[in-house]
Amino acid sequence: MNSHATAESTKRYADRFNGVAAAGHFREVQSLALSSLGIGTYLGQPDDKTDGGYVASVIAAVENGINVIDTAINYRFQRSERSIGSALKQLTKNGFSREEFVLCTKGGYLSPDGSMPSEPNEYFYREYIQPGIFKPEEIVQGSHCMTPRFLENQLGRSLRNLGVDSIDVYYLHNPETQLTEVSRPDFMERVRDAFIYLESAAAAGKIQFYGMATWNGFRQEATARESLQLGELEQLARDIAGDKHRFRFVQLPFNLGMTEALTLGSQRIADESKTVMEAASELGITLIASASLLQGQVARNLPPFVAQALGLQTDAERALQFVRSSPGITTALVGMSHPEHVQANARLVGIPPATVDEFTKLFNRESA
Ligand SMILES: NC(=O)c1ccc[n+]([C@@H]2O[C@H](COP(=O)([O-])OP(=O)(O)OC[C@H]3O[C@@H](n4cnc5c(N)ncnc54)[C@H](OP(=O)(O)O)[C@@H]3O)[C@@H](O)[C@H]2O)c1
Repeated sequence: MNSHATAESTKRYADRFNGVAAAGHFREVQSLALSSLGIGTYLGQPDDKTDGGYVASVIAAVENGINVIDTAINYRFQRSERSIGSALKQLTKNGFSREEFVLCTKGGYLSPDGSMPSEPNEYFYREYIQPGIFKPEEIVQGSHCMTPRFLENQLGRSLRNLGVDSIDVYYLHNPETQLTEVSRPDFMERVRDAFIYLESAAAAGKIQFYGMATWNGFRQEATARESLQLGELEQLARDIAGDKHRFRFVQLPFNLGMTEALTLGSQRIADESKTVMEAASELGITLIASASLLQGQVARNLPPFVAQALGLQTDAERALQFVRSSPGITTALVGMSHPEHVQANARLVGIPPATVDEFTKLFNRESA
């Protein structure tokens, strides 16, 4: 059987931190225990030094109470996936098992292999077009594709890069990109085809769940060209696989500067306007926050009222505390290529999420 995160092993992982992790740090969703912080691997140069930084950071994260690991095939030209693969090998030697981690990656963007080729067009022709993996007309914005044939190829590459035989959450990466060039009915057909493939990959044990990792899609008014409706997408999955469908995760930016998931009623569910957080909760979909520090921008110089509401020692902690304490967010992903950042952020593992009172103070400044 393919190895993936299991209920028993993720619970065992959480139990390793009995007496260290505060109540509320581990959350049970989709029968798995997920940490309220996760490590992201997006930023940084495609070079050996950054590879080493991510290997050390992933190891430090797992050793300090963080079991959600997020990447994408195109991050640093596949090098982030490979860095995670190296870290996982080391962690296995250190006594951890694959089943304790929730391993997440994404497909959708064309990616070179390790470094930018001198002739990118020639590279993509030889690697993809000639063997029939995609046709030029299936590519949007010169860089995005989500046909079943392409996803199958990308998932295979990700499994090899990560050195595993199963991925826990496989996301379509920024699928709303397609809406910049194709009509909404055509987009929904493309999503349907992708979901049919992803359900088959789940049935084959290559992935456990699938989802959408988005940037603009869930942060815009319902009428915007790139907006996504979670109810319609979930219905597609339900049409394909019934109640047991595996479309169970959505990733979207959420941080002190991007609060739409909590505040914008862009989703229509049963003829009512809902926020993404409300819609996801009704549909049994787990929300994962990306860019929890707004790519480092909210790690410092926050206005004093944030410290007054949330306490804690540093602005980075406060920014992460906001995300992990928001109703509906299971895991706050934070990019960390320096183990010093892992050590600093992991202090929150031992601190409970903000109380409703503390959280509300952020939004009721006048009355505070
Ligand atoms: N559309 C999508 O699918 C999408 C988009 C964006 C992000 N994501 C995912 O979400 C993850 C998180 O987002 P992100 O990496 O873009 O941005 P982020 O988490 O908001 O910020 C990462 C930056 O913050 C720095 N940092 C971390 N801890 C810090 C601390 N305690 N003090 C000061 N600086 C600190 C990191 O530095 P070092 O690297 O030097 O440690 C890095 O430069 C990504 O890595 C990726 O996995 C997904």
